[in-house]
Amino acid sequence: MAKIGIFFGSSTGNTEDAAKQIAQDLGAEATEISSTSEDEILECDYIVFGVSTWGAGDLQDDFDDFMGTLEGMDFSGKKVAVFGLGDQENYGDTFVDAMGIVGKAVKAAGGELVGTVATDGYEYDASEGEENGKFIGLPLDEDNQSDQSADRIASWVSELKKSFA
Ligand SMILES: Cc1cc2nc3c(=O)[nH]c(=O)nc-3n(C[C@H](O)[C@H](O)[C@H](O)COP(=O)(O)O)c2cc1C
Repeated sequence: MAKIGIFFGSSTGNTEDAAKQIAQDLGAEATEISSTSEDEILECDYIVFGVSTWGAGDLQDDFDDFMGTLEGMDFSGKKVAVFGLGDQENYGDTFVDAMGIVGKAVKAAGGELVGTVATDGYEYDASEGEENGKFIGLPLDEDNQSDQSADRIASWVSELKKSFA
C-alpha cells in the first residue's frame, strides 16, 4: 500500500493543527519536521509539507533548519503537495512565501508538485506561493479567515486523494 507522510514546521500551532487535520483526512501521520529524517520522508510515496511564514517572507524556524537537507534530497518519482499558513492582511506582500520557497525547492530537487489552488477568496499583494496565477499549494490564514480553513482543507484533501491515487 502506498505510504503518505505529512511533515510540518509550526511555531504557534496553526500549521500543526492543519497538519493533523490533513493527516486525519488522508489516513496518514503528521510529523514535526524537526523530528524527522531524510530517509523517513523518502520512504513515503506521497509527501505533504506544511510550513508557516515568519519575519518578512521567511521560513518557520524548524523548517529553515531542515532546508539544507531538503535541498539535497532526490524527490524524483515522488508526488509532493505543500500547504502554508500566513496572514494576508498584515503580511500582504509576503503572503505564504514559505510555502512557495518549499514548493520550489521540492521541484528543483526533482519532485512533482500536486495540489494547486485558485487564488479566489484571498486578498493579498504578492506571494512567493503563487505561480502562473495559481497557488502552488494550499494557503491557510488562521489570523483572518479561520472560518474557511476546514472547508479549504476538506476540498484540497479530496483533490489530493485523486492526485495520490
Ligand atoms: C512576527 C510575525 C511575522 C510574520 N510574517 C509573515 C509573513 O511574512 N507572511 C505571512 O503570510 N504570514 C506571516 N505571519 C503570520 C504567520 O505565518 C501566521 O500567524 C501563522 O498562522 C503561524 O503559523 P504557526 O503557528 O504554524 O507558526 C507572521 C506572523 C508574525 C507574528
